[in-house]
Amino acid sequence: MLRVGILGCGVIAAKICDSLKGNRKVRIEGVASRERAKAKKFAAAHCPDAKVFTGYEKLAKSPDIDLIYIATPNTYHYEHAIMCIKEYKNVLIEKPFAMSRAEADSIFFEAKNRGVFVAEAMWTSYLPLHKKALEWIEKGRIGQIKYVTANLGYDIESIPRLNSTVLGGGSYLDLGVYTTNFALSFMGDDIKVSRVFARKDSSGIDRDTTYSLETDDGAILGNFYVTMCANTDKDGVVTGERGKIRFTNINNYRKITLYSADDVMLDEAEADKNYLKGYVYEFESCANAISKGLIQAPEMPWSRTVRICQINDTIRSMM
Ligand SMILES: NC(=O)c1ccc[n+]([C@@H]2O[C@H](COP(=O)([O-])OP(=O)(O)OC[C@H]3O[C@@H](n4cnc5c(N)ncnc54)[C@H](OP(=O)(O)O)[C@@H]3O)[C@@H](O)[C@H]2O)c1
Repeated sequence: MLRVGILGCGVIAAKICDSLKGNRKVRIEGVASRERAKAKKFAAAHCPDAKVFTGYEKLAKSPDIDLIYIATPNTYHYEHAIMCIKEYKNVLIEKPFAMSRAEADSIFFEAKNRGVFVAEAMWTSYLPLHKKALEWIEKGRIGQIKYVTANLGYDIESIPRLNSTVLGGGSYLDLGVYTTNFALSFMGDDIKVSRVFARKDSSGIDRDTTYSLETDDGAILGNFYVTMCANTDKDGVVTGERGKIRFTNINNYRKITLYSADDVMLDEAEADKNYLKGYVYEFESCANAISKGLIQAPEMPWSRTVRICQINDTIRSMM
């Protein structure tokens, strides 16, 4: 049983705890908040058997915790990850993993030196339907990939952390990391950013971002947009020479559908109906990897996270 400690009692941490209730591989063992009362209230609501820690350092030093889930705002991921790794704690870090490639490199350097497990909580990569789509492609069901498109938009403008430059707000870091991970999954690592357009507000927050990627050899083109201003269809399509795969909601895969080149439906796979359960896969992957003595998760190897961070740097510099 993997004993997990929650670092930061916010919105996503609550969903994670709810989805892990009754899990046979993973248990929430502790929760840490900067404020004791908040940690107690959070534990009472979401994981009543967990120990309560006041201050993140106490959680990092606890011998009862195997893995710490870092669920603080974007600009704090680096600092909190380094603190945990220095205590030899395995970490699962929310997306975006870090604010830059340099921060990501430094986290992996410290982890490698200590033999500590680190993974990015890019939960889409761990979903069974993501693996199924990769399997269809591997089997040649759509042939050579030519185009990849995806969009991800939620009406979340009122969330304070998304409007804060200090906390790493904006549409790209919140949602674009998913479309970029989607791109890397189907276009491969050898891609470059060819165009970026961001609609920024007066404080510098990108409320909408559209961008294009292409493979270095020019064989695959990708077009993406993300927004914090509207609920979009969230669909993705990977088009190959012999057919295409349509993803219904690239953020929480509901369904993937395989079509022939002339749009005849050939196959379909649907997700578990329970929305929240999608978060369990990343934790179960951590449990499996750690039990095997691995320091990376096969679904989100360090090289993928570094590549995402590198592309993030480029896209943000082009906004
Ligand atoms: N995988 C997903 O589907 C998903 C969904 C939403 C968010 N996320 C990611 O998860 C992270 C947290 O997002 P969230 O929506 O849960 O945020 P949130 O509700 O604002 O929670 C963040 C928590 O971080 C802690 N914190 C530490 N320093 C802080 C500071 N200076 N200001 C505010 N909070 C601070 C707070 O916990 P204490 O007060 O208890 O210390 C706070 O509750 C982000 O990186 C986000 O990108 C992922």
